Amino acid sequence: MQQEAAALLNWYDANARKMPWRTPPHSDQRPDPYRIWLSEVMLQQTTVAAVRDYFNRFTTRWPTVTALAMAEDADVMAEWAGLGYYARARNLLKCARAVHDLGSFPATYADLIKLPGIGPYTAAAVASIAFDEPATVVDGNVERVIARLFNIHTPLPSAKPELTALATTLTPQSRPGDYAQAVMDLGATICTPRNPACGICPLRPFCAAQPQGTQTSLPFKTPKPEKPTRQGTLWLARAPDGKWLVEERPTKGLLGGTIGFPGNGWDTKSHHDAAPITANWQDMGQIKHTFTHFHAVLTVLAATTSAQPDHGMFQPVNPENLPTLMRKAYDLASAALLPR
Ligand code: ADE
Repeated sequence: MQQEAAALLNWYDANARKMPWRTPPHSDQRPDPYRIWLSEVMLQQTTVAAVRDYFNRFTTRWPTVTALAMAEDADVMAEWAGLGYYARARNLLKCARAVHDLGSFPATYADLIKLPGIGPYTAAAVASIAFDEPATVVDGNVERVIARLFNIHTPLPSAKPELTALATTLTPQSRPGDYAQAVMDLGATICTPRNPACGICPLRPFCAAQPQGTQTSLPFKTPKPEKPTRQGTLWLARAPDGKWLVEERPTKGLLGGTIGFPGNGWDTKSHHDAAPITANWQDMGQIKHTFTHFHAVLTVLAATTSAQPDHGMFQPVNPENLPTLMRKAYDLASAALLPR
């Protein structure tokens, strides 16, 4: 084994973070591929800290891939609410149903990558962590660790192939699953973006950046174009019986398949030219939300009315099941409309 991998595995044996889907190093138990897959899909959205609660709720409600495959789409979308990138929740279901049809999780990278919604990252993570195949996992943490270890000055994203190739050379044949998790833990706790803790880093003897003092500026990144801002409106109508005027958004596109309030100006796909109903609309102020490609600044108009809508329908709304953008609008409007 490469010295780097050996040093990292030693460090992991003593310092592995505990996570609800993990089995500790050197335990007799193999991790459950369903739980590894689910956690890795969730971890592409956000941090380990934020994923924990979602993961625990999902696995309590759907303890197996079969249970998830049988779930109603709307229930899964509702549990996913707040994690973002709703296309991923739909792909999650597609994948669960495909695995269910196969009878069990495919055990190799080559077969995992054929599943709907599984890309190179997830396939490598599941293959290595759940099945101990020496597949190389490359995420942002790994890119940072490798760029520093080899002092690579090519900026991302151009550097990706080079960093992936270098990462591959380090992946050991023995314990590749622990190794993958060790690199990610190192990136999250020691080889951090701003203030890496080089003094306690197990890879310090091998690090090319540290003696040059370049570690904190690596990896270089090609600046992204600035995000445009879209101004728009959301209409929140509440009926006297407490139901809200909502619509199910088209499955394709922004917040696809989620429940939302009618609006315009921010979403080119399903906008409305005018208020969905005639009502005494009151300006509640603005909410801001950032998507991958733009910032949305939306004026929230609210009214209490049971007038017949031109589109959408009145339904009970659980704010916890709304995507974050809609939740922000709900919080603003309900502060004014709900009896206290
Ligand atoms: N980030 C994404 N996947 C991870 C994992 N398996 N361990 C630690 N951090 C992660």
